[in-house]
Amino acid sequence: MEIFNNIGKINSAVAVLKSRGLTVGFVPTMGALHKGHLSLLQRSKDENDISLCSIFVNPIQFNNKQDLEKYPRSLEEDCRKLEQADCDIVFAPTVDEMYPEEVKIKYDFGQLDKVMEGKHRPGHFNGMAVVVKKLFDICLPHRAYFGEKDFQQLMIVRELVKQKNIPVQVIGCGIIREDDGLAMSSRNRRLSPHERSIAPEIYKTLLWMKHQAGKISIDQLLQQARQKLTSHSEIKIEYVEITDEESLLTVDDWDSVRNIRALIALFLGEVRLIDNMRIK
Ligand code: PAF
Repeated sequence: MEIFNNIGKINSAVAVLKSRGLTVGFVPTMGALHKGHLSLLQRSKDENDISLCSIFVNPIQFNNKQDLEKYPRSLEEDCRKLEQADCDIVFAPTVDEMYPEEVKIKYDFGQLDKVMEGKHRPGHFNGMAVVVKKLFDICLPHRAYFGEKDFQQLMIVRELVKQKNIPVQVIGCGIIREDDGLAMSSRNRRLSPHERSIAPEIYKTLLWMKHQAGKISIDQLLQQARQKLTSHSEIKIEYVEITDEESLLTVDDWDSVRNIRALIALFLGEVRLIDNMRIK
């Protein structure tokens, strides 16, 4: 496995591989790797000749300074895991390498980045889109793999690729869960044992919502889902939404759109967790 920190060097190395006719799969990450990331890598390995993983905690997608400072960093351990998983190339740049100058780019994703995560984390999606576009330009992948846990992110990356005509196929991959249903996330390691024991309630609530879909009104479903979650005093809800999967706009009638997805964001103690599920 080769590790690059320099943009010019990785860009030339990938260009050489592509000139030999090899296909390149890309898994962008912020490190603190878990089985969810490794499943993205496995999918890339299954579908491409070369698999490339980036590790970069992107400061401009954090709207909260404390969140950025507390974000887990474990570069050496991450590289060991990637080596074991047979990753071919790692790109782990510094902040100065990625952002030698202040970033001024502003994207317009319409309603997609105004709701849910976009509403609660101002600037988050613009910062995410800036780094993803830059990583695509540097790593030149044929295919890029994103987890559905960050469902809104996946939709915005698809929109970015469409708007900027980026020649990359964006592949959404299903959520990988712990045995008790908690969606795998780098943030889970910040949960106390007590908080960790409550965290599967998010998944249980989503399952319950799926089970109730179409049986009670959307308003009732939302109200009862919120009640279930807040029966645990450690949980502070940011949002529970039921949306059209395509537009991410809220729906108020079960039959108005084809696919309906429930999305949840909450604080468990100090740790912010998100999860989602197609419920219809
Ligand atoms: O999902 C993430 O880990 C990040 O948002 C990403 C896509 C690596 C961009 O920093």
